[in-house]
Amino acid sequence: MTPPLVAVDRLKVYFPLRSLALFGGRKRVARAVDDVTLSIAPGETVGLVGESGSGKTTLGRAILRRVPVTAGTIRFRDADITKLEGEELRQLRRHMQLVFQDPYGSLNPRMRVKDIVAEPLLVHGVARDPAEAAPRVRKLLDLVGLPTDAAERLPHAFSGGQRQRIGIARALALEPEFIVADEPVSALDVSIRAQVVNLLQDLQAQLGLSYLFISHDLSVVRHISHRIAIMYGGKLVEIGPSKEVHARPIHPYAESLLEAVVVPDPVRERARARVPLAGETPSPIDPPPGCRFASRCPLAQNRCRMDEPPLEEKKPGHFAACWVR
Ligand SMILES: Nc1ncnc2c1ncn2[C@@H]1O[C@H](COP(=O)(O)OP(=O)(O)OP(=O)(O)O)[C@@H](O)[C@H]1O
Ligand code: SF4
Ligand SMILES: [Mg+2]
Repeated sequence: MTPPLVAVDRLKVYFPLRSLALFGGRKRVARAVDDVTLSIAPGETVGLVGESGSGKTTLGRAILRRVPVTAGTIRFRDADITKLEGEELRQLRRHMQLVFQDPYGSLNPRMRVKDIVAEPLLVHGVARDPAEAAPRVRKLLDLVGLPTDAAERLPHAFSGGQRQRIGIARALALEPEFIVADEPVSALDVSIRAQVVNLLQDLQAQLGLSYLFISHDLSVVRHISHRIAIMYGGKLVEIGPSKEVHARPIHPYAESLLEAVVVPDPVRERARARVPLAGETPSPIDPPPGCRFASRCPLAQNRCRMDEPPLEEKKPGHFAACWVR
């Protein structure tokens, strides 16, 4: 088996909450990512799905070493990068990049496209000045399907989909091997989402990239992912081959997510839209013992409220954390 490009082992990211300490209470933490183990192979796309607040962005950013890690390890190409600092961390950034959700907010409105795309090249000393960066910028714009004259324009001259292409060109400038794409199409019109997803897929085939592709939308993730990982309340509750997870989800939460996915029959779809997942989204602060999904799970038993179910291989390559399934 090829060694993974990225391997996360028992990763925890806890955010200290300050406000309550003011009242002399014990210090509380938000367990945004709580003991997650996950690996991504070279050239692989892992789709990361889960409801708002489940910890997807925090996990993606922690892998890129953009939020402090509380415990656990992150390995990249078999090197432990959990504690890298200074120049070593700066060098690592060349290999791992982020594509943002918001193509409007993430591009400096006063910079021309060529300067936006050239910036990482200059910052990392790959090019000495804009003139030296220019040929590479042209190639990058071409790679993401933007016209050459795009280089001279400001971001506001572009549509959402085109802006996302600019963001992708910038992320590719340093020839990274790994990209965290955090809801890269969620802010775009439905009509152009497929184009951007297809672009990411083409780039992967051409450049051999690995992706952690974060999305609320299971149907988007299914299309692009080799494997799907599902988070709930800071935990990884299921991971397996995309088709397998889609056709035969194991975890009751995965099942409920799939039921929310667009059904071709509009009448049924409307009926379903009225039955959202019952119960509260779990709070990452002081989670109760046992399974995080217990308060909403139709299959919950006593044991579920006491002991936390481990992530186990239920079928070859298909893991889930559930006592019952
Ligand atoms: N800097 C921070 N300080 C304190 N809590 C944080 C911080 N960043 C995230 N959190 C908390 O961690 C949890 C996970 O947040 P995260 O943004 O990773 O979720 P997400 O799955 O990406 O959600 P969304 O789908 O809304 O983007 C949330 O409860 C959030 O409030
Ligand atoms: S462990 Fe229990 S509560 Fe958790 S998902 Fe399985 S059945 Fe539901
Ligand atoms: Mg997020």
